[in-house]
Amino acid sequence: MVEVLNLVKSYFKRGSKEKIKAVDNVSFNIKPREIFALLGPNGAGKTTIIKSVCGLVIPDSGEIRIKGHSVLKERSKALSQISAVLEGNRNLYWRMSVLENMRYFAGIRGKKLTKSKALEILSIVGLEEQANQLVHSLSRGTQQKAAIAVCLACDTEVLLLDEPTLGLDVHSAVEFRSILRSLKEQGKTILLSTHDMNLVEAVADRVAIMNKGKMVICEEKQKLVDIFTARTYRLKLFCDNESKQRLKALGFDGWIEDGNLIELQINLPSSRKLYDLIDTFRLNNIEIESIEKEMVNFEKIFISYTRE
Ligand SMILES: Nc1ncnc2c1ncn2[C@@H]1O[C@H](COP(=O)(O)OP(=O)(O)OP(=O)(O)O)[C@@H](O)[C@H]1O
Ligand SMILES: [Mg+2]
Repeated sequence: MVEVLNLVKSYFKRGSKEKIKAVDNVSFNIKPREIFALLGPNGAGKTTIIKSVCGLVIPDSGEIRIKGHSVLKERSKALSQISAVLEGNRNLYWRMSVLENMRYFAGIRGKKLTKSKALEILSIVGLEEQANQLVHSLSRGTQQKAAIAVCLACDTEVLLLDEPTLGLDVHSAVEFRSILRSLKEQGKTILLSTHDMNLVEAVADRVAIMNKGKMVICEEKQKLVDIFTARTYRLKLFCDNESKQRLKALGFDGWIEDGNLIELQINLPSSRKLYDLIDTFRLNNIEIESIEKEMVNFEKIFISYTRE
């Protein structure tokens, strides 16, 4: 549905002739009905990718196709498939109501917004009661939902959402997850950028992690979680003072002690290494009380791919 091939974009550093690569040779494909999450620290290049996909930024090189149409060469055909909620709160006209914004943006995209369609969209985002309120009178979270409503009013198959849960309270962020799930059920294909690991864990099908313009991993979310779960173990060991010294000498560190029982978390490069670890403890006379696989959260995965 969305193809990004060898995308490169550099910007001049402000007040200098030096250029920085905001996006450095990034490629990915998004399948129909997929929720594809772009993650990465500040400045990693996520917004630049989203703006390139919706034609607001012209790449230095590379190709972007939406349903087979090139954003650069067949701009209007390609862009007719996309609607976007960009970073910040400038997606709507503040002096118009939610419904007026929906009608206006659908209208300029050549789409007719029927009353029943508008009601359906307002109910998806939970804004039935605010439909006629002016945007500037709404809270930040409600404005964000209104921006999604406008996006849906444009009735495109592909939605681009740049940090949709930024600044939302816990309840609204949770609500947002079910909104995204229902959009997927409706057949939408979604490219979203976010710092919200809970959102990624809850809704993403595939995840691409960016760092300094480069894509460091692009994988199915569940696979990433499985890889990390398979490698992270929590061990409980019986250790007297001597065995604790031996453990230290072997390079183990950072355990939690409860008398002679210590709890140690270990990340192994592969699950086969568990046998070596058990051998090491046996040779050093360290008694194992239990071994458990540690459940990983996405934050850990993110940090492990983005640390220097
Ligand atoms: N218009 C611009 N002019 C100059 N440099 C820019 C411009 N837009 C982005 N950059 C630079 O490009 C790099 C990538 O920025 P981008 O906004 O794409 O990152 P991001 O991953 O969206 O970050 P954040 O998580 O903070 O939103 C950064 O180093 C940024 O300073
Ligand atoms: Mg950004």
